[in-house]
Amino acid sequence: MSLLEFKNVSYISNNKSILKDISVGIDCGDFISVVGPSGSGKSTLFRLCCQLISPSNGNIFYKEIPYTEFDPIELRRQVAYCFQIPSLFESTVMDNLKFPFSIRNKRVDSTIIKKLLEDFKMDSEYLPRSINNLSGGESQRISLIRTLIFPPKILLLDEVTSALDEKNTFIVENIIKSLNEEGITILWITHNSEQSKRYANKILSIENGKLKSLEVIK
Ligand SMILES: Nc1ncnc2c1ncn2[C@@H]1O[C@H](COP(=O)(O)OP(=O)(O)OP(=O)(O)O)[C@@H](O)[C@H]1O
Ligand SMILES: [Mg+2]
Repeated sequence: MSLLEFKNVSYISNNKSILKDISVGIDCGDFISVVGPSGSGKSTLFRLCCQLISPSNGNIFYKEIPYTEFDPIELRRQVAYCFQIPSLFESTVMDNLKFPFSIRNKRVDSTIIKKLLEDFKMDSEYLPRSINNLSGGESQRISLIRTLIFPPKILLLDEVTSALDEKNTFIVENIIKSLNEEGITILWITHNSEQSKRYANKILSIENGKLKSLEVIK
């Protein structure tokens, strides 16, 4: 049984065919690198995966249940998308890291926040900082930490290390690898061909809106 399955999924917007007849199964525990030229449809595929948009044709299933039967907000807690361009809100880093607790009506657990900041080799001094003064790489990591406070079952990473130096890329890759070892299924869009092969067990290649291949590499 696939954890996530696309059956003949197409997506059309403004009369433009963006994804064409995609059929693919993602297995529990997969670490999949998603590759393909700019504009080929990778981010659109992720937006479908977390129900930010719906297929024009075809069906998507999570644990064999059609997406149409899920509340999108509930589904996004299981299938979480970390965006290509980080979207931070309100005013401080702390506002962003409190947010996952507040939407779940839970008390803020600062030990979880501190542990994640430590894992990313960022310290608590970031918490009161304004989001307007963060670098692109800092924003990417805060956005990723926000997604990991309540770990999803499937994590969709859209070029999340594009603004990071080598050292921080390595830190993030290792955190993601550990999460995968703990059972979280990873889909990671990257334009870096070395990165795509480092930890992935499969490479999903998209070209011109079509699934070109799903290659098993490990
Ligand atoms: N809502 C939309 N309406 C019309 N066209 C769209 C829409 N969303 C995306 N597109 C187009 O669909 C194509 C695929 O976009 P997408 O963002 O999925 O590409 P991508 O593979 O993620 O590219 P990149 O590597 O540059 O991030 C692009 O040509 C884009 O301009
Ligand atoms: Mg994209």
